Amino acid sequence: MCGIVGYVGPRPSQAILLAGLARLEYRGYDSAGIAVIDGDGDLGMRKRAGKLGVLRDDLEATALADGTTGIGHTRWATHGGPTDDNAHPHLADDDRLAVIHNGIIENFSELKSELVAAGCTFHSETDTEVAAVLLGRAYRDAEGDLTEAFRRVVGRLEGAFTLLAMHEDHPGLVVGARRNSPLVIGLGKDENFLGSDVAAFVEHTRSALAIGQDQIVAITPQAVTVTDFAGQAVDVEPFEVTWDASAADKGGWSSFMAKEIAEEPEAVRNTLLGRIHDAGVVIGELEPLDDAFTRISRVIVVACGTAAYAGAVGKYAIEQWARVPVDVELAHEFRYRDPVIGPDTLVVSISQSGETMDTLMAVKYARERGARTVSICNTQGATIPRESDAIVYTHAGPEVAVASTKAFVAQITALYLFAMHVGRVRGELDAAASAGLVAELEAVPEKISTIIEREQTRIEQLAHWMTDTRSVLFLGRHVGYPIAMEGALKLKELAYIHAEGFAAGELKHGPIALIEPGQPVIVIVPSPRESALLHAKVVSNIEEIRARGARVIAIAEEGDAAVLPKADEVLRIPLAGPLFEPLLAVVPLHIFAMALSTSKGLDVDQPRNLAKSVTVE
Ligand code: G6P
Repeated sequence: MCGIVGYVGPRPSQAILLAGLARLEYRGYDSAGIAVIDGDGDLGMRKRAGKLGVLRDDLEATALADGTTGIGHTRWATHGGPTDDNAHPHLADDDRLAVIHNGIIENFSELKSELVAAGCTFHSETDTEVAAVLLGRAYRDAEGDLTEAFRRVVGRLEGAFTLLAMHEDHPGLVVGARRNSPLVIGLGKDENFLGSDVAAFVEHTRSALAIGQDQIVAITPQAVTVTDFAGQAVDVEPFEVTWDASAADKGGWSSFMAKEIAEEPEAVRNTLLGRIHDAGVVIGELEPLDDAFTRISRVIVVACGTAAYAGAVGKYAIEQWARVPVDVELAHEFRYRDPVIGPDTLVVSISQSGETMDTLMAVKYARERGARTVSICNTQGATIPRESDAIVYTHAGPEVAVASTKAFVAQITALYLFAMHVGRVRGELDAAASAGLVAELEAVPEKISTIIEREQTRIEQLAHWMTDTRSVLFLGRHVGYPIAMEGALKLKELAYIHAEGFAAGELKHGPIALIEPGQPVIVIVPSPRESALLHAKVVSNIEEIRARGARVIAIAEEGDAAVLPKADEVLRIPLAGPLFEPLLAVVPLHIFAMALSTSKGLDVDQPRNLAKSVTVE
């Protein structure tokens, strides 16, 4: 998956394209390129392997003639390694047509063989270049009508794609098409934009249009035309972007992740906004499904990565407050095993980006089999919410660092609100219980701030001492278990350290064999006030690993004296009800992973091999 941006208007396009790509680098950052139609009407192109900075330096060293129509691309390699040749754009029609692409064209090798047999030559190993060559040929057949050429080509492509193209013959025109990959339009004054998401153009306009599946868009400085693949005009949904460009800037922080962890309290607070009425939860966006909520017999949560761990925490709340059984499934496993779903199944997807292909496909699969679908998502205008029956937006604001932090706490918050809404509608959660839970939730932001203030420096020291650590284990029980897995995932992603999260009770069934003297183990300790039994069990787990030489870092509630003599280090979290502890316990883990990555001198915002929005399966 990749980031794409297109511009037509009165201004020189290169700076606009490069700024847009910088905001889209979270989608991929192994190579980048731009193409521009210059003042003489000639198409120029520059592309380089490496992060955007490499392309920027190259353009500074040797200028490319500027012009007011351009497209730009930042890549996450799928077909063909990250080389200069495989970077986008790709050219066709005697280098007069430039094409960029996000997605995977699954039938590209058949198409390529056909084109090679017809005498076409290729300069890269990418699937994209096949689309470019097809488009070049279709353009000639369509006698220079680029939109018509797109219509002829899209029917031949299988898989997922957003394609943007421009041709030397048509300065002031960029044409795009989408199927199962994201594309949004930004509306300016005498200028228009295309982007993988609104971050591509939010510094220029907050007025946007979301393009549906299987649609083609043509932008000129004065007009936007959207048609379906058959050429019929379609209506497009306008929307206003609710955050501005400064929200996506680092604003003095050392990294986006540092900024985003600091924004965790606000992410929770903003997700609660407008959803609490008279100490109860009413989510207007869910009301059309209220009748369905009374009839569902099960909930399946589908998500990937960090979002799946948020789902695993949410399961406890949905089962407890709405009394409906919940399964949490990795989205990419879900639809390949013929799951039992029907009209009484509610599928809840969770996705920060709203574009994760695995999750999108799981939602579509569920819908086709009659399930009702709810999307928990952080990105307006994204595909997954638009494919769902109802949406609960998390209002975490733009998350740029590849590994998710503030979106995670916002996702848990949204799941809790969802559980309370459904619990009320199903008659399982009365007003008094609801009021207590709401009070707990409303207190979370302040408690997260307390943890950051009190513990950040100590966690950073701890991480510094552990710079050479090669493996860290994480243990948790009950809601602490998914938090242990989230802590381990974050450490793998950011610090490239082997890390595993285990259910503490599972320890004696195998993982305890991993414990040797000096092995660091981070243990999430449940509250002794709220769950004395669980607390006692986790404390005895600590004793078991301590006896075998483990170095224990405990995350425990303030005042929990029992852990003090057992652990090497204790990080304190404020008192909270049992289901609210995950929202607190995860904060030291996020800080720890970031600090360890930083002390190893790694790129905390853009870890190797990853991309934030994985729009391929
Ligand atoms: C990628 C990211 C993870 C993220 C996952 C799901 O793998 O690297 O940080 O948790 O995708 O992303 P989503 O946008 O669907 O929440």
